Amino acid sequence: MKNNRWTAADIPSMKDKVVIITGANSGLGYYTAEALAAKGATVIMACRNIKKGEAARQQIVSSVAGAKLTVYKLDLADLHSVKTFAKAFKDKYSRLDLLINNAGLMAIPYSRTKDGFEMQFGVNHLGHFALTGLLFDILKKTKNSRIVNVSSLAHRMGKIRFRDINWEMGYKKWKAYGMSKLANLLFTDELSRRLNGDGENITVAAAHPGYADTELQSKGSEMRGFKLGAKMFRIANKLAAQSGGMGALPILYAATAEDVVQAGFYGPSGFMKIWGYPAPDTPKQDLIDPGIAAKLWELSEALTGVSYNF
Ligand SMILES: NC(=O)c1ccc[n+]([C@@H]2O[C@H](COP(=O)([O-])OP(=O)(O)OC[C@H]3O[C@@H](n4cnc5c(N)ncnc54)[C@H](OP(=O)(O)O)[C@@H]3O)[C@@H](O)[C@H]2O)c1
Repeated sequence: MKNNRWTAADIPSMKDKVVIITGANSGLGYYTAEALAAKGATVIMACRNIKKGEAARQQIVSSVAGAKLTVYKLDLADLHSVKTFAKAFKDKYSRLDLLINNAGLMAIPYSRTKDGFEMQFGVNHLGHFALTGLLFDILKKTKNSRIVNVSSLAHRMGKIRFRDINWEMGYKKWKAYGMSKLANLLFTDELSRRLNGDGENITVAAAHPGYADTELQSKGSEMRGFKLGAKMFRIANKLAAQSGGMGALPILYAATAEDVVQAGFYGPSGFMKIWGYPAPDTPKQDLIDPGIAAKLWELSEALTGVSYNF
């Protein structure tokens, strides 16, 4: 890495590139959409709430002259919605240069997706696993395409609970979040292995934002109706987190920098890796086990019914 103060200004031209960003209406997804639109990309903002997506789109359009953004409905907690989104996208576009699997939920009260999966695993991992599989043919067709999975330092507390994947035998909200974020890294790793010859064309990488000021931290308290908790998280964010724009930089780096490597992991380079400019990072090595990654892949195929056309 040549530049240790890499910013959005270093993103190469994205003219003629088509990009999908999940959860683009808020936080890191929003800043990522804004930065890529500013470099000329056609950005599909894949959002579960069209109204929020449209408000975010208008905000970007008002600050980035000529921004090309479209909001599509995508609810990762509903496999039918994932399929509908993928079909609608492929009916309209003939290329996909970049897929950023960013949307996520953290430490929320126990709930299930439409298909019955524990919500954090269902949205953060399974929804993105299915989405990527359903878009895999168009990614393969597009020259030098890229997939970026947004994980977290919280992967370090993760363990894949194969015997209780939906947390029916005692839900621990933080451990479930850690498991889902470890799953993002195992998915990245296993996909890179399965790419084989396609790896010359498709790069898959992962990123994490360190600790960034977004809606992520307060949502869990809000869902529990714990207003004071949500307020405290917001105050803590103002005191200790870096900005959402800084947090988006490792994602943007993984998505666009020339020296990104297959299955690479990128995050902030500063204090405890929670703040700062992007740099290559290393996941907790003993957790990135190829046997577990392969087992998770097979389970994800079985649960979602989506197979990859390698
Ligand atoms: N902020 C941090 O410090 C931090 C640290 C480590 C990792 N991350 C990761 O960064 C990613 C982005 O989070 P953020 O910090 O930007 O949080 P955020 O501001 O809460 O944004 C999360 C986005 O995900 C969307 N989303 C949630 N459930 C969804 C579903 N079922 N279908 C489609 N979209 C859904 C949200 O939509 P709504 O607006 O409709 O809820 C929102 O657009 C997450 O994967 C998170 O794990 C963040």
